[in-house]
Amino acid sequence: MSTEATHYGRLTRYLHWAMAVLFAWQFASAGAHAWLEDTAVEAFLWASHKPLGLLLMLLAIVRVVWGVLDRGHRPPAVNAWASLGHLALYLLMIAVPAVALIRQYGSGRAFEPFGIPLMSGFEGEIEWMTAIGSNFHGLFGWVLLVLVVGHVAMALWHRHVGNPEVMSRITGRGID
Ligand code: HEM
Ligand code: HEM
Repeated sequence: MSTEATHYGRLTRYLHWAMAVLFAWQFASAGAHAWLEDTAVEAFLWASHKPLGLLLMLLAIVRVVWGVLDRGHRPPAVNAWASLGHLALYLLMIAVPAVALIRQYGSGRAFEPFGIPLMSGFEGEIEWMTAIGSNFHGLFGWVLLVLVVGHVAMALWHRHVGNPEVMSRITGRGID
């Protein structure tokens, strides 16, 4: 008799969907910054980009730690590509905000997300830090979006063509 899990656990599922909603908002603010500069839409959305980005990084770290503790209690990977894809999503979920935070620190400007004095700022600038962020943050951010779009497309493909149970693993459908 197999004891393999058929679904992701409750915490995994809640983190997945809460972060999916927050990522939608985060990419909307990035898109507004890229294409709607100096409009009211950008002013509205961009205000949350840095604090929400930090929150998403913290949640991604919680998710990684939880993934390690929870290993052995998750449904088996659909195939090696799915494992590789999820690994890439995790790497970028951490790397994208991390390089932005390095740039933020290196800029010497104070950073107080949610009113918490995280970086007090200093005179001058640390150039390699600002260069890392400016070279990679936006680029990796858009790569993450492309991966997310591919991930959602694969999920929908399984839902309608491949194996509908793949979607149920993360929605919790079918759990009594
Ligand atoms: C998971 C979290 C994050 C995602 C997915 C994300 C995504 C993006 C993307 C795609 C862009 C490019 C927008 C454009 O082309 O104009 C961008 C720009 C920017 N982000 Fe983020 N971001 C995140 C977190 C952060 C954090 C934590 C900070 C600061 C502490 C930050 C600060 C900025 C700044 C200043 C820009 C404009 C400069 C640039 O394009 O590099 N972001 N972000
Ligand atoms: C409408 C949006 C989304 C849908 C329909 C969706 C669908 C799914 C499905 C069906 C699974 C289970 C796949 C499997 O077991 O092989 C899954 C797992 C996963 N998804 Fe999504 N997803 C969405 C958004 C996102 C976003 C925005 C991210 C991250 C940026 C993400 C990251 C992950 C990860 C890392 C897993 C593996 C389980 C875990 O470690 O939490 N998903 N998703």
